[in-house]
Amino acid sequence: AQRILSGVQPTGNLHLGNYLGAIRNWVETQSDYENFFCVVDLHAITVPHNPETLAQDTYTIAALYLACGIDLSYSTIFVQSHVTAHSELAWLLNCITPLNWLERMIQFKEKAMKQGENVSAGLLDYPVLMAADILLYDADKVPVGEDQKQHLELTRNIALRVNDQFGKKDQPVLKLPTPLIRTEGARVMSLLDGTKKMSKSDPSEMSRINLLDPPDVIQKKIKRCKTDPIRGLTFDDPERPECDNLLMLYTLLSGKTKETVATECQDMGWGQFKPLLAEATVETLRPIQEKYHELMTEKGYLDSILKEGQDKASAIAQETLSRVKDALGYLPPF
Ligand code: AMP
Ligand code: TRP
Repeated sequence: AQRILSGVQPTGNLHLGNYLGAIRNWVETQSDYENFFCVVDLHAITVPHNPETLAQDTYTIAALYLACGIDLSYSTIFVQSHVTAHSELAWLLNCITPLNWLERMIQFKEKAMKQGENVSAGLLDYPVLMAADILLYDADKVPVGEDQKQHLELTRNIALRVNDQFGKKDQPVLKLPTPLIRTEGARVMSLLDGTKKMSKSDPSEMSRINLLDPPDVIQKKIKRCKTDPIRGLTFDDPERPECDNLLMLYTLLSGKTKETVATECQDMGWGQFKPLLAEATVETLRPIQEKYHELMTEKGYLDSILKEGQDKASAIAQETLSRVKDALGYLPPF
């Protein structure tokens, strides 16, 4: 089977954007692939982090993967820092990646701007570590949200450069991965501004719905979310970004088709629509939250899953790392 690799950072709570843009798609296609889902804790320290919560946040993401429906008969779940080859390959790739490729990354520029003085070298290097994550597993497909597209292009370019400089004819060192970006849900927008993406780093909690928000909080956030004064709700109107986003959320969360929703909502006002969206959201998240809370009381079980994932991932990653070191001309370790 073709191989899939993807990951989420253990920083804060996952929100609907992470779920609809990434994890839900992993779950849907997992039986067609051999899957690796990583909790990317090394990426989590590229911005200032809290050492008191990192380990707990790592459990949270692993438990949420399972609660969202990641099935261990198709998928391997592991923690990035447990597989040391990620850091090692990132170093090798660092020395092959031109600095100006990294300085061009939109996400780096955005995050660096927000941080002012305190930008770490790791923040600039973030996409090289991400390339290492992907290339270590010879991944064929990488399912992510739209915001990761540029990082995947970079990953391909790094792999091409390694193959070009160190590969033999007909024997590439690294496999070129393809992004898997769905159109629906690839960009879930903020509840407070339909032109900004829903993000973990937005200072306002009201801008996002977290997967672990209780029903009353979800209802409150939807009740207060930004709308417009126009009656009758429609998709795809560039003048109405909030309307398009909320209808899209309703479509994905209710499981209805876009056509059905377009007809259902064409004469509605917001007062009528919002309770429907709140209900669909609460009902989608209810079973995920139940499963999550159950799993979080079984740390021993989570540990055993992550240990198994670590062993399986390490075996593959070590092999690729050796292949790359060999191509670069290193004396093999004794
Ligand atoms: P992160 O939270 O940055 O670790 O992102 C984890 C995954 O969620 C990545 O695949 C992102 O592309 C995806 N993602 C994050 N925010 C959104 C959003 N607002 N809409 C769709 N996908 C998103
Ligand atoms: N950069 C990704 C994000 O923030 C997370 C990530 C790290 C990732 N390594 C990855 C995603 C490898 C896919 C594959 O969304």
